[in-house]
Order: sequence, then structure tokens, then C-alpha cells
Amino acid sequence: MYKIAVVGTGYVGLVTGAGLSDFGMNVICVDNDYKKIEDLKNGIIPIFEPGLSPIVERNTYYKRLTFTTDIKRAVEECRVIFIAVGTPPQDDGSADLKYVEQVAKDIGKNMNEYKVIVNKSTVPVGTAKKVRELIEEKLKQRGVNFPVDVVSNPEFLREGTAVHDFCRPDRVVIGSDSQKAVEIMKQVYNVLYQNDIPFMLTNNETAEMIKYASNAFLAMKITYINEIANLCEKLGANVQDVAEGMGKDRRISPEFLKPGPGYGGSCFPKDTIALVNMGKQYGFPVTLIEQTVRANENQKKLMAQKIEKVMGDLEGKEMAILGLAFKPNTNDMREAPSITILKYIIKKGARVKAYDPASMEEAKWRLSDINDKIKYCKDEYEAIDKSDGVVILTEWDRFKRLDIKKVKELLKEPYFFDFRNIYERSAMESYGFKYSGVGQ
Ligand code: UDX
Repeated sequence: MYKIAVVGTGYVGLVTGAGLSDFGMNVICVDNDYKKIEDLKNGIIPIFEPGLSPIVERNTYYKRLTFTTDIKRAVEECRVIFIAVGTPPQDDGSADLKYVEQVAKDIGKNMNEYKVIVNKSTVPVGTAKKVRELIEEKLKQRGVNFPVDVVSNPEFLREGTAVHDFCRPDRVVIGSDSQKAVEIMKQVYNVLYQNDIPFMLTNNETAEMIKYASNAFLAMKITYINEIANLCEKLGANVQDVAEGMGKDRRISPEFLKPGPGYGGSCFPKDTIALVNMGKQYGFPVTLIEQTVRANENQKKLMAQKIEKVMGDLEGKEMAILGLAFKPNTNDMREAPSITILKYIIKKGARVKAYDPASMEEAKWRLSDINDKIKYCKDEYEAIDKSDGVVILTEWDRFKRLDIKKVKELLKEPYFFDFRNIYERSAMESYGFKYSGVGQ
């Protein structure tokens, strides 16, 4: 059985490392963040991800999963090395590859025999080739000549359901020009292979493109239903029913047709912009995605403006904000619509009472420039108490079970902005709310 190193213990790296160890593989997770590694050794998980903690705990206990800052040892000991470090956007929106490149150099500096390098990070098309070149350059400098294969194996996990997505993916994409590396990958993912999860074998460039094309397509699908929702609202149509009617067509599918305040997170915003950049760079602009990026920005603004349009002057108004994370079951606020919406209403003179079940700490530093206008509350009812209106921005389960009568009693004014369409307009109006959804 091959020993596996996973370099980078962010979302993708940690879930991959923990998941593979749970498949029975021997995994070393590597990170240069000493504190993170020490915490992980002590069972402290740096991210909020349902189901991850017990897997880490179980496999650490059985010593199938270990943590280190020593990349040299990890490279020497392991046959298969996953690169799962961040590829943050640069000022122009293209992916910054400096962490990926650094890991490639570290591998070249330390490898001592044949290795399979697996790219899990979302990287521009052509990166696998670059990784190979960087490794081979280092080997040449050292005067040694070990064979190396680079595999592109994009990850499609969603925050909040990452463990499930890793263990039961819709497909495993393996991009490689080496049959030997493909066979090794089949063994690494043996559990999935045996469970009839479809494996797609292709070349590196195609695998890299599948990830961008998939994410951008989903972002476009969300944006499409958001724009249809805005139009429905004007025309008296109900977007929920429109989406249901569309989704029954198997060619469309009902997934990712929920309108809302715009997509956020660590992937869609970054990957759409990176794809737009690739298109421009190679002279084939991906215009649908260029427009998707613009329309999504607009959607966040439209929602903020909707509050102002319905309530009038926001000066001195107190608003209860339920949900800050970009989606439920995560503390992640990267590119969350809440950031744009809160900044807008605060600029217009509103004060905010906010509650999110997981991202209160993250909010305090992400919104540090407007923190003096935000009161962070202990629960939804404290936020709602004596507020002029309530705005739901994230569809956490507990916000689906609000005590509506209590909400009505606590609110100073019955404005209810449900930007995740959790409730039904007619029911809410019958309770006396001035209700606004998205496309209802
Ligand atoms: C996404 C992809 O789904 C995943 O395959 C990829 O690996 C990483 O990016 P993630 O960012 O974790 O995953 O979240 P996802 O559940 O896809 O939601 C992304 C954003 O779209 C969220 O802001 C969510 O609220 C929004 N969304 C999603 C909608 O507004 N409507 C929908 O119907 C679906």
C-alpha cells in the first residue's frame, strides 16, 4: 500500500487527507503553519466542517493519519504526494501559483525515488506541465534523475458537505499521460473504484479544464435563475415554480436553481474570474462567464437596494441580519453576499444586529471597518428584538424553524426580507409581515 503525503491542510487538503486515511491509506498531512499542525495533532480542527472531526480523530488514533511541518520527510517517505495548497486570486483575478510552485520546488529538492505528484488545487490549464518542469529543474540542479509523474485530479467538494462529497463523489477525474501513475491512482482511490464511482481518465489539460468549466457553469446556472427571479418579481410570476418546472426537464435538472442574494465562497468567485482571464489571455473570451461575474455582483447590490426601496430612508433604522456565511454549515464568509449587503445598508445609515450560528468570529475581522455599526447577538431573537426589519441571508436550518409569531411580536416594524426564499409570501403576509423574497 502506498504512503501518501498531502501538502496543504486547508479545506481540500484536510478533507482529502482525512478521507484517504479513512479509506485505509497511510497519510501524512503537511503544512508550514506550525500552530495549525500542532492544533491538528491535538485534535483541534481549524475549519468548521460537519463530519470531519470524527474522521480526523479516528484515523489519528489508529495512526493512519499524522501531521507534520517537515515536508522533506514527507516527500522522502511517500510515493504519492498531493498538492492541495491555495491558489488565491491576484489583483487581475488570475490564480496565484506561488504556493503550488513552492511545493513543486520542495518536492524536487527532496525526492529520492519515483513519485506521483497529484494536483488537487484548482490550477489554470497548463499547471501540471509547469509543476513537472519545476521538479525536473530541481532534480537537474541536484544532479539526480528520478522519474516523476504529475496527475491532475481536481476536487469537487462543497463546503458543509465536503466529507460526503469526498466519500461519494459523482466522478473522479484523473488527468495523466502515464499509465503507471493512473494505476497507482486507482489504488489510492480503490474504495471509490470498488464502489462503482465513475472514473474519468484523460490528459492533464482536460482534467484541469473540467474543474473550471464545471464551477463556472454552476455559477452561471445560479446567476441565470437569479436574473429570471428578478424578472418574475416584476411580472407576477413565481420563480420557485418556474425553477421546479424547468428542473423537471432532465436536461436542465433541479440542482443549483435556487435564487438568492448571489453566489459567494472560495471557489465560484475565484474560478469564474480565473476562467475569464484564461479566455482573454488566449484570445477566446468566455463572454457568458464575463457577464456571470458582473451579474452576480449586481445581484448582491440589487438585494441591498431592495431593502432600501421597500423601507425607504435607512438612516437610523436597525436591521436584524440572520446569516453571514456564504452558505449554511460553514463559518466561511469569503465573498459572502452579506459583506456587500451589510456595507451598503450601513453606508445608508442603518445599524445592524447580526447573528450567524458559525461565522461570528470571522465576521468580526472581515467586517472590522464597519464593526462599530454592528452588534453581534447571541441568537436570532436577540437580533430581531426591537429591530425595524429582519433580513435572512443564509439558509441555516434554524432560520427555517423561526417562531414566526415571536418574530412578529419582537419586531418594531414587520419588514421581513427572505433572500433565500425559505418562507412563502402568502403565509407571511397572513401573519402581517411586509414580506420580500427573491422572485416570489
Ligand atoms: C462549490 C462547488 O459546488 C464545488 O463543486 C467546488 O469544488 C467548490 O465550489 P461551495 O463553494 O462549497 O462549492 O458551495 P456551493 O454549495 O456550490 O454554493 C456556492 C454558492 O452558490 C453559495 O453562495 C450558495 O449560496 C450559492 N447557491 C448555490 C445559490 O445561490 N443557489 C443554488 O441553487 C446553489
